[in-house]
This record gives sequence, C-alpha cells and structure tokens, in this order.
Amino acid sequence: AEMKDDQNDDSSTDQVVADQRQPTLRKLAAVVINQCSISITTREANITPEIASRAIASKPFQQWIQNMECKSSAAAMEVYSIEIQNIDFFGMKVGFIKMLVDCSVDGTRIPGICFLRGAGVAVLISLRILDGNDEDMYSILVEQPRLPVGKIIRELPAGMMDDNGNFSGVAAMELKEECGIEVKEENLIDLTELAYKEQQAHVINAKEGGDFLFNGLYPSPGGCDEFLRLMYYEHAVKRADLAELEGKLSGLREHGELIQLRVVKFNDIWKCCNDAKALCALQLLSELKRSGKIPIVCRPKTQEAEPVIPLNNGNFIPQLAFGTYKIAIEECETVIENAIKAGYRHFDCASIYGNEAAVGKALQKCGVSRDKLYICSKVWNDAQRKGRKAVRASLLRTLDDLMCEYLDLYLVHWPVPACHIDTYKELEQLHNEGFIRSIGLSNYSQEDYNELISAGISVQPVVNQIEVSPLMYRPETIRFFHKKSLAIGASKSLHRGGDSLDTDIIKGLAMKYGKTKAQIMLRWAFQKQLILLAKTSKFNRMVENRDILTFSLQDEDIALLDSITTADDIKSRAELELVRKVS
Ligand SMILES: NC(=O)c1ccc[n+]([C@@H]2O[C@H](COP(=O)([O-])OP(=O)(O)OC[C@H]3O[C@@H](n4cnc5c(N)ncnc54)[C@H](OP(=O)(O)O)[C@@H]3O)[C@@H](O)[C@H]2O)c1
Repeated sequence: AEMKDDQNDDSSTDQVVADQRQPTLRKLAAVVINQCSISITTREANITPEIASRAIASKPFQQWIQNMECKSSAAAMEVYSIEIQNIDFFGMKVGFIKMLVDCSVDGTRIPGICFLRGAGVAVLISLRILDGNDEDMYSILVEQPRLPVGKIIRELPAGMMDDNGNFSGVAAMELKEECGIEVKEENLIDLTELAYKEQQAHVINAKEGGDFLFNGLYPSPGGCDEFLRLMYYEHAVKRADLAELEGKLSGLREHGELIQLRVVKFNDIWKCCNDAKALCALQLLSELKRSGKIPIVCRPKTQEAEPVIPLNNGNFIPQLAFGTYKIAIEECETVIENAIKAGYRHFDCASIYGNEAAVGKALQKCGVSRDKLYICSKVWNDAQRKGRKAVRASLLRTLDDLMCEYLDLYLVHWPVPACHIDTYKELEQLHNEGFIRSIGLSNYSQEDYNELISAGISVQPVVNQIEVSPLMYRPETIRFFHKKSLAIGASKSLHRGGDSLDTDIIKGLAMKYGKTKAQIMLRWAFQKQLILLAKTSKFNRMVENRDILTFSLQDEDIALLDSITTADDIKSRAELELVRKVS
C-alpha cells in the first residue's frame, strides 16, 4: 500500500488503496474476531505462515483483537481482512507489525494502516531535597537521538513492555537500567490507572453491561496501537546525594554514550522537555493531587511521605493529625508517645482540654525534634471574654505547657460574640512577634467569618476547624471556606466513634473495601482534602487511622457517604453552635 508523503497521523481514516504492482496476496492464516473468521494475507515473500503465526500470537496483536471484541467500544468495528505488510523482530521476539486492515464502522468502510507495537511505560521522577526548601524538587530526564524525528529528544525514562504485562516491574527495571536508580515496584504510582481505571470502568459498565478494557494513554491512535502507562516515583534525597547522582548521570556523548541523563528542576520539566509523555504525566499528577487521589507528599521538615495540605500563607499542614480532646491526664503521656511511634507528627491541642502539660512532656521526650512536629492549639472562650491580655496570657501558658517556643497554628476556638475580633487582633500581634506561625479559626460560620473580615484584618486565617464527618457533612460551608482559601480541619472526623460507625452505608463500604468502618470515614475526609483529627487512646487504632493512604474510595461511594447527613442534622448542628459560642 502506498501512503502519500504528506499523510499525517490520521492516515487510517483516509482511503488507502492497495498497489496493483505488488505481488498478489497469499493467505497465511485466519483469526476469529467477534465470532467471524478473518483471513490474514500478505504480499511479502519473506512472511511465511510460521512467521505470521508468531506475529498473531504476539501480545500487541492479541491485545488488538481483544480491543476489537470489546463490547464497550463506542462504535462497532467489523473487520473484513488483514494484510500483513511487515514484521520486525527484536531478536526472537516479535517487535513491530504493520498491517492494512479492511474494516467498517457502523457500515462505513474505513480501511487503514495499523502499526502495532504494544504497550510502553514511562516514569516521572520527583526527587525532593530533604535538607532544602519545599520548592527544591528535581527530576531526571533521558536524552537520546531519535531517528524518526531526526533529533535528540529529552524524555521521561521509558521502555516497551515485555509479554508478562507487569507495568511497574518494567518501569522499575528501566529506572535501574537507564538511570541507575533502584526502586521498589510498590513505590511506583500508576497515574494512568489511578486516573482512568475505576472511573471509566464504572461509567462504561453501567452503560454497556460491562467489559471495559483499561489499557493506558494513547499518544498516537490514528496510526499506532501504542498505549502508555505513566508512573510516578517520588523520593526524598539529601542535597549531597543529588550532586553525586548528577555526576554519575551526566554521560558525555563524545565519549560514546548515546543515552545521557539530565537532572532538571521539577518545575522546569514542562519548558525544557517537549516529550508528550512528560506533559501528560505532569498534568495527571497535578489533577490527582488536587482531587486527593494522590496525597501531596512529604514536607522534609515533618517526615517523608507525610501527606500535607498547602495553606494560603505558603506553609503546609500535615493532613493526618492526632486529636487530643478527652485524653485523660493519667494516660496522656503514654498515648502521645504511642502516637509518635505510630507516625503522627501533627497534634491538635487546646487549653480547654486540660492536658497540654502532659502532651508537652511526651513531645519533649519523644526524640522527634521540634521542627519535625506540627503543633496546634486554641484559645478558649473565657480568655476571650477577659480581653486581649488574657488571650496573650493563655497563649503563653499553652507554650509553657507544650514546652515549645512557637506554635505552628493557633485557633480562635469559638467565635465568641463581641469578643472574637479582639481575640483575632491579639493573635495577629502574637503572630507578628513570632509566637504563632499561622492563625486559624474554629467553629466559624460564614456569618462569623464575614464579620471578622469586615472588621479588617492584616494576617489571613489559614484554616477553619469545624465538625465534619459523613454524619455531619456541610458541603456549602466547606465550599465557602475553600473558596476563601481556608483549609478545613475536620473535628470529630469519626463522629466520636461508637454507634456512628455502625451506619449502614459505612458498614457496607467497610465490607466492600475490606477496610474498617473508621478507615472508610477517614478516607472520605481525606479525599475531600480535609485535615483529619481523629483521636484514640489505643495504639492499634492509631495505626489503623493512619493506614488510609493505600486505598481510595470510588466516586460513587464518596457520593453515598455524602448522602448520610440530612438537612435536619445540619440545622440542629447550626442551632447547637449558636448556643456553644455564647456558653
Ligand atoms: N475545634 C473544636 O471545637 C473541636 C471539637 C471537637 C473535636 N476537636 C478536635 O478533633 C479531635 C477529634 O474529635 P473527637 O476526639 O471529639 O472525636 P473523634 O475523633 O471523632 O472520635 C473519637 C472517638 O472515636 C474512637 N475511635 C478512634 N479511632 C477509632 C477506630 N479506629 N475505631 C473505632 N473507634 C475509634 C475513640 O475511642 P478510643 O479512644 O477508645 O479509641 C474516641 O472515643 C479532638 O480530639 C480534638 O482535637 C475540635
């Protein structure tokens, strides 16, 4: 078959006419597609029935047949004949197959060329500098001469799949071979699968009675079957290690090295690399993080792989906090020590909880340095009523009790009418003196917030901590504060545990996902980008409540959990809050 010189990638939709000068077609074999026997022919003398049968058995060809048979394809494609034009072998393995396929879609004929090369995998690497700023992130790209484009192209490390179909295994191998980086397969996140698999399977299953086939991203479907899985690997390294890696990686072309590796700033990838794989991976990563499917990972100052939420003042807050309300004094030190052991670094305290001195003692002796902890406290209502001096005294007492020189976050516990604005002004002062890194609100309604803003403030609040769980879901309030760039702290994330966990929907989802009821509630809040504040005195529950990063709730199940709270629940909570803030 002849193709015009100016034919582009969409050639398959153009008419492709068989060249009469070519030798006549020979039948090689037949395959069954959608219960019809389709003959496979060739004009090439060197393609024997034996070679053709190897091509037919190859992974890309079998995948192509599977796709053709998939009921959920938008249009029904009917194949009439397949003419194999070329087969390239990589050693003994079938590499590329080029074929002319005669086919119709819903009765319209669309003969076209198919270039089968199968699946590939590419890895977006993010190396965070442990002893640097949050912005200090780097990536590794591969430069190599690419014949089809006649240029050296800078790309993500990538490779073709082998027959066993283990994408993360091949990705890990490519990283080792191309970049000399050893990673565990389980530390690679499949961005493509996270983005599309569940969601499309759900949509198509519902519509079509279900045989959706998730493959990956198609970079060039007009001519080529290639599909890609894009992986993400994030790791923290010391600056010195990066320098060493950079030296090791930068091979010189004049020394005969065809593949060269480049360390580039992560934020510069989009402008220094015109590889479509890289741009797709960046976009997927950013959207998956925004939707909570990938935690925004790792502030070097807390600990690696700790999910964090960015605050409107440039700081970050660890998303999994440990609530300290109602931890009895006599067990408090042990509980906090255990929480540290379980991995918590963010502690949500308050003067009214009456246990800050015990929390402080435990944090002091836990062996984790202050800059790796995130400590929040709140000023109680009685201090607010006594005026700004008492607010200041309350903060200083909290600092003494918690044995620290500053708080990462300090909240106005309740918007006490006629007092909370003065309280906030004192907090601004304390912030400017360096005692508080960020100021926040707690139990603020939209009206309370508007009242505060109208009074004129100079330091923006970064969070509003309000009661949120599937049993008290107030989407309007959350949306309001998110729009104002405040993060939401979900107090009572477990709705105080006990009977609340036995709500039917929560029980059902716990069964479905093989997780505990508490984990379903917490994962829901996590995917809503809320700061989780669960409290427990039991070590096994501390671990359980943090172990929510390894699964994700489907959108339909999030919607189910969203539906638990009734309008009456919201109304009674609002009424209760009116009473609480004056009490
Ligand atoms: N700003 C505010 O006005 C405000 C209001 C309320 C709360 N908060 C903050 O939010 C934090 C959390 O709220 P909360 O303590 O009231 O309630 P919560 O975290 O919703 O629930 C705590 C209860 O759940 C149980 N629990 C914990 N993990 C569990 C699990 N995996 N399975 C079953 N039960 C489990 C605990 O029992 P065990 O201890 O026996 O495990 C405890 O009784 C507080 O500690 C506080 O820091 C702030």
